[in-house]
Amino acid sequence: MVLLRGIDHRGLVFYTDQESGKGQELKANPFAAALFHWFKPMHRQVRVTGAVEVVDASLSDVYWQSRPPGSRRSAVASHQSQVIVSRAVLEEKVAKLAEAFPDDLGPPRPLRWGGYRIRPDVVELWEEGADRLHDRLRYRSQSGNWRIERLSP
Ligand SMILES: Cc1cc2nc3c(=O)[nH]c(=O)nc-3n(C[C@H](O)[C@H](O)[C@H](O)COP(=O)(O)O)c2cc1C
Repeated sequence: MVLLRGIDHRGLVFYTDQESGKGQELKANPFAAALFHWFKPMHRQVRVTGAVEVVDASLSDVYWQSRPPGSRRSAVASHQSQVIVSRAVLEEKVAKLAEAFPDDLGPPRPLRWGGYRIRPDVVELWEEGADRLHDRLRYRSQSGNWRIERLSP
């Protein structure tokens, strides 16, 4: 689960440690699907699939600066998805960063931390129907146009 931090005509943006498990997977295979699900009573789902690109460093910088200093220190201290000996090791790193960067500017963005954008080429809308006869509409991007097809549930 990641937070959707940006959405526009270019795609969906989220931020993470690009050396994390998902970061390494995206480096090897830069495609992803994002799933949004609403439980009952809405019972709808949106699935977005597409190629993934790293967002401009300037955009990652803006988002980094918008985060609270504590979150910035934790992100610098934590090499996401790597094994650590104990929580104390992590807390010690954060404490040292708090001494080194006591003001609200906080530590600068590490190069490994930044945003990804999923550029949708398939969007599927799903909505629950009676007796499991759900609606599924698939939008596929083809040379700049979106082709809409109904899929069997
Ligand atoms: C509500 C919620 C929001 C999260 N948002 C993010 C996020 O925006 N970015 C992120 O890197 N991890 C976020 N996480 C943590 C990830 O789910 C995940 O544990 C982490 O990114 C490491 O995943 P990986 O080892 O597959 O790379 C969030 C977790 C939860 C429960």
